[in-house]
Amino acid sequence: MDDTTSSRKKIGFPNKEEWKSNTAHYTDDSLYIAGHHVMGRWETDYMCRLAHIVCQNGGHILELGYGMGISSDFIQKNKKIITHTIIECHPEVAQECRKKYTHEISEGSIILCENFWEDIIYKLPNESYDGILFDTYPLTEEQIHKNHYWFFKDAYRLLKKGGVLTYYSDEKKGYSKEHMEKLKEAGFTHIGYHVCKVNPPQNMYWNDTSILAPEIIK
Ligand SMILES: C[S@@+](CC[C@H](N)C(=O)[O-])C[C@H]1O[C@@H](n2cnc3c(N)ncnc32)[C@H](O)[C@@H]1O
Repeated sequence: MDDTTSSRKKIGFPNKEEWKSNTAHYTDDSLYIAGHHVMGRWETDYMCRLAHIVCQNGGHILELGYGMGISSDFIQKNKKIITHTIIECHPEVAQECRKKYTHEISEGSIILCENFWEDIIYKLPNESYDGILFDTYPLTEEQIHKNHYWFFKDAYRLLKKGGVLTYYSDEKKGYSKEHMEKLKEAGFTHIGYHVCKVNPPQNMYWNDTSILAPEIIK
């Protein structure tokens, strides 16, 4: 068992209602929910890379998980995008998004869906997105390091042909065999990646000097 798994087992796994009812605690460099360190500012360059990948076709972007809004901010800076749909389940985190992007939400260029993606994704039409960035948080033990696996089939369904999927990969230098199999099972065949150098503080939820930025084209 790796350090992240054992520390998360100690904190425990909140159910959906508990997740939503716990305060979202923001500091200058981090977001904590229910005792879990959900996001850290050390990921900024990595989020910039994921945003760059997801915006490569411009158009309609779907993002799952708002967190500290770091990737959202990079997506918003891209002039080629038309809409940016954000799915975020935590009410206070969603409120942060509303506060920051009041104007964009009112004019309809940002569409904020306050929900768990699993409970809403079926409502989104097939082949409607040019890019998808997935960065939620594992709420069960079996999802640690692999919560994206459950999303791959929906990603394939939702992307237009030529659309791009990227996500917080939980991989250091390459895809594991299981990871590749899950992507292929979902229908993906053009499976690329970039290795990004990162410099997380000590004893972080990520303790390596590199992390993979997936670039997966439908
Ligand atoms: C790691 S943060 C996202 C970080 C974001 N990319 C950024 O740059 O700040 C994960 C977010 O996903 C949300 N989340 C967790 N599980 C989710 C789910 N099943 N559906 C939607 N949002 C979820 C959490 O509440 C949290 O705000």
